[in-house]
Amino acid sequence: MMLHIPQVLTKQQVAQCRQIMDRAEWVDGNVTSGHQSALAKNNLQLPEDSDAARRLGDLVLTALERSPLFISAALPLKVFPPLFNRYGEGQTFGTHVDNAIRAMRGSDFRIRTDLSCTLFLAEPEEYDGGELIVEDTYGEHSAKLPAGDLILYPSTSLHRVTPVTRGARVASFFWLQSMVRDDGERTLLFQLDTTIQQLAAERSHKDPQVVQLTGIYHNLLRRWADS
Ligand code: NI
Repeated sequence: MMLHIPQVLTKQQVAQCRQIMDRAEWVDGNVTSGHQSALAKNNLQLPEDSDAARRLGDLVLTALERSPLFISAALPLKVFPPLFNRYGEGQTFGTHVDNAIRAMRGSDFRIRTDLSCTLFLAEPEEYDGGELIVEDTYGEHSAKLPAGDLILYPSTSLHRVTPVTRGARVASFFWLQSMVRDDGERTLLFQLDTTIQQLAAERSHKDPQVVQLTGIYHNLLRRWADS
C-alpha cells in the first residue's frame, strides 16, 4: 500500500529544518548506497553521524510518534534514523530497490526494511522535476507533495526520483521495520482501523458493534504482529 500522510511537520517545523539544512555540510549521497543503488544515484546527503542529521532526525521521529495515521498505516516496530538528501539541477536517482537490511554503522541496530518513507521538505513550486515514481502491480505512481507531507510505500517496490531541472528538492528519507511484515495483512489492519474510527465517531467508542470490531482488530494484530 502506498499512502500520502499530510502535515507530518507544520510549516514552522519545515522552516526550522530548512534553516539547519542550509547551514549544514553536504556530502555525496552514495555514502549510504548499496552497490546497485550507487550506480543509479546522483545527489547530496547530510552525513549520517553529523550533528545536523541527528537534530533533524529527532525532530522527524518525534513528529511521527504524534501522527495517528502514520502509526495506524505503518505499525512501526523499529524506525531507521531519518536521513536527508538534496537534489540540485541535473541530479536524479534512477530505478532501484532499497536494500532489504539496513544496519547503523558502529552499532548493532539493524532493521528489515518493510516500508520506505519520503518526507518532503521543499514546496513543489521550488523545483521542477524531482518526482518520486513508485512502481507496483497497478503501474507507476508519482508523488511530489507539499513540504511537511510524507509518502509511505512498500520497500519491495522499484522506485526512482526523476531529474531535477530547476531549483532544489530537499527531503528526509528513511525505512522502517513494521510489526506486521506482510503488506497485505498490514493493509487490511489499516483499513479495519480506519473503518472502526469512522464508525466510532458516528456512534461512540462504547457502541457494542464498535467494541466487537475493536476486539477483532486486536485479535488479528495479535495473530500477525511481531513485537
Ligand atoms: Ni530508494
